[in-house]
Amino acid sequence: MKIAKRMDRLSESITIAITTLSRELKASGKDVLSFSAGEPDFGTPQVIKDAAIKALENNDTRYTAVEGTPALRDAISKKLKRDNNLDYDPSEIIVSVGAKHSLFNIFQATIQEDDEVIIPAPYWVTYPEQVKYCGGTVVEILTDDSTNFKITAQQLKDAITPKSKFLILTTPSNPTGSVYSKEELESLAEVLKDTNIMIISDEMYEKLVYDGTKFTAVASINDDMFARTITINGLSKAVAMTGWRMGYLATKDKDILKAVKKLQSQSTSNINSITQAASITALDGSADSDIEMMRVEFEKRKHLAVKLMNEIDGLSVVDPTGAFYLFVNIKDVSNDSMQFCQDLLSEVGVAVVPGVAFGLEGYFRLSFATDEDTIKDGINRIAKFVKDI
Ligand SMILES: Cc1ncc(COP(=O)(O)O)c(C=O)c1O
Repeated sequence: MKIAKRMDRLSESITIAITTLSRELKASGKDVLSFSAGEPDFGTPQVIKDAAIKALENNDTRYTAVEGTPALRDAISKKLKRDNNLDYDPSEIIVSVGAKHSLFNIFQATIQEDDEVIIPAPYWVTYPEQVKYCGGTVVEILTDDSTNFKITAQQLKDAITPKSKFLILTTPSNPTGSVYSKEELESLAEVLKDTNIMIISDEMYEKLVYDGTKFTAVASINDDMFARTITINGLSKAVAMTGWRMGYLATKDKDILKAVKKLQSQSTSNINSITQAASITALDGSADSDIEMMRVEFEKRKHLAVKLMNEIDGLSVVDPTGAFYLFVNIKDVSNDSMQFCQDLLSEVGVAVVPGVAFGLEGYFRLSFATDEDTIKDGINRIAKFVKDI
C-alpha cells in the first residue's frame, strides 16, 4: 500500500528506541527500573469508578452530543470558574478524546501552509509533530535551566513574525515541571497585546504544583489574554485517568468552536459516554481529597528525588514546582543524551527519556510517578553509572 505523503511529516518517536531496548532487556531477565512513563502510578479514585459503574447500570450507553453532554460541559464550566476564575459558557467548551485530541482538532481546523506556531523548547513532543502533520511550521524558542526553562518576553518578541499564528504554553511543564508566575505571564501578555497571535495554554498538570506554588491560568491574566487563549485541560494526570480519555478545550472564539465541532462530528463524534458521566464526579469536588492525597505523595517523592539527584557529582537539576518530572542536566558528563540514556539502560537497567526527544540536548527526563523505593534504587544506580563514566 502506498502511504500518504503527509505521513512523511511525522517523525518516528525517539523514545521508541529506549522503550524497545527496555523491553528486550526485561525479556532477557534483566532487572529494569522504568522512569519513562508519563502517567500516575495510582488507580483512579473509587468515587469516580463508582460513578462509572452507576452510569453503566443506568444504560448511559448511547451517543451523546458531539461536544459532550450538557451536564459534563456544565461541570467543566463551573470548574473553570471555581478554580481559575474564568467565565466560559458550556457552549464554549468541547470535550475530546484526551487533551491530545483537543490539540489535534485545533491544528487540523486552523493551520494552513506557511502558518507558524511558536513552541518553547523543551516541549511535550506531540506539539511539533501535530503542527508539522497539519502543514504548519514550528518556530522553537530554546530555553535552559538558567531561566528555569521559561521563555522571556524578549525571546518571544524575537520569535514573532507576520506568519505567527499560535504560541503554545505549557504550565506546569512536561518535561521540566516549571510553572509560570502571574508576573511572568503578564510580561508575555505585554508582547502579545498588539498581535493577532492566539495562545494554546496546556494546563494539564494544573493540580500538580508543589511547595506552595500558585498556579495561574493563562487566560486569567487580563481580558485581552482571555480572548486570545484557548485553554486546554483534562483529567489524565491529576486525577489518574489516563486510560479514560477525556480532555477539553475552552475558547471564546466562535469560529474555532464551530470548526472543531464539525471536524469531530465527522471523525470521532462524542467521547465514551461512561467516561463522560464519571468525569462529572471527577470535576465537581467529590474526588478532591483523593486528588490532594496524590499531589502530596508526588510532592514527597519530588523532594526525595531532587535531593538524591543533586548529590550526584556531574548532574544537576532545577527543583520543579509542578508536574511529576525532573529534567536533569548532564552536560558535565555527556553531550549526547540519546547515547547516555541507552548506556544507562543497558549498563544499570534504568530507563529515562533523553532530552533530545523534547527538543533539548544535554538533559534527561525522569518521571517520579513511582514509589519511593524505586526512586532510591534508580537514582543510586544513576550515581554509580555516572561515577564510572
Ligand atoms: C503537557 C501534556 N498535555 C497533554 C497530555 C495528554 O493528555 P491526554 O491524556 O488528555 O491526551 C500530556 C500527556 O503526556 C502532557 O504531558
